[in-house]
Amino acid sequence: MRVNRRRPVIELKSDDQLRKMRLAGRLVGQILAAVRDAAAPGVSPIELDRLAAAMIAEGGAVSSFLGYDGGFGLPPYPAVTCISVNDEIVHGIPAERPLVDGDLVSVDFGLSIDGWHGDSAITFGVGELAPERAALSEVTRTAMWAGISAARIGGRVGDISAAVERSIRGSQTKYGIVDEFTGHGIGSAMHQPPDVPNVGRAGRGEQLVKGMCLAVEPMVTLGSPRTAVLDDDWTIVTRDGSVAAHWEHTFALTSRGLWVLTAADGGEAELTARGAKFGPLGD
Ligand code: MF3
Ligand code: CO
Repeated sequence: MRVNRRRPVIELKSDDQLRKMRLAGRLVGQILAAVRDAAAPGVSPIELDRLAAAMIAEGGAVSSFLGYDGGFGLPPYPAVTCISVNDEIVHGIPAERPLVDGDLVSVDFGLSIDGWHGDSAITFGVGELAPERAALSEVTRTAMWAGISAARIGGRVGDISAAVERSIRGSQTKYGIVDEFTGHGIGSAMHQPPDVPNVGRAGRGEQLVKGMCLAVEPMVTLGSPRTAVLDDDWTIVTRDGSVAAHWEHTFALTSRGLWVLTAADGGEAELTARGAKFGPLGD
């Protein structure tokens, strides 16, 4: 979401509410996996959007994106996915132009079940992907997991931001970190306080407490991090035409640790590999 500074009133979820958010998050992950599997040269983003819309209906869920106006007077968002190809960073409106071999595609997707939202994004290649593009996506994905793994009850939002930034800056290649958009709180609405920036300092920002749910979503480019908006008022592109990647997960701080609500395994593998506490709630 766009950077903004609201007075933070952070919604804390009960265990039962977290279980509901897990249902939404699980479906988000399943639909993203289906979209990724359906993507191929010759398939258009608009067809992928239709697949996601059908699966939302099948799952008894409601799109978080369709009709969304950002609260900023933007035209209502016209699709259930954001599909951002190559130099598009985020908020790409699914296009009719078919995907081609070598495209780097980011799909951002959110829905609610029973009023509880999940939001997640993945990046993947179509056909054969140039190694630098594959590396860009992997750096972005790794930064997202580094950020999530840095969260703990009693810590600060800045711990997440600093971990995302450090993860990206620590690589051999020089990447652009997009700082005009941030992650966000999420729950009974898709976008809630606090903002979760992708750059920052540990120990700063809102305190992390039990029952908080956050979406961490780094956006990284192969060039400059400067952005521009297309005439459709939604699609955010790199100014220099460089290719961008975007990964996002929604996670919860539970009494037991971290629970990545939009990951199929709840985040167990990636959190454990990073020494973070995997803390799902039982039924
Ligand atoms: N997941 C996106 C974000 O957090 C939301 C896309 S805006 C929409 O920025 F209009 F497409 F919904
Ligand atoms: Co988001």
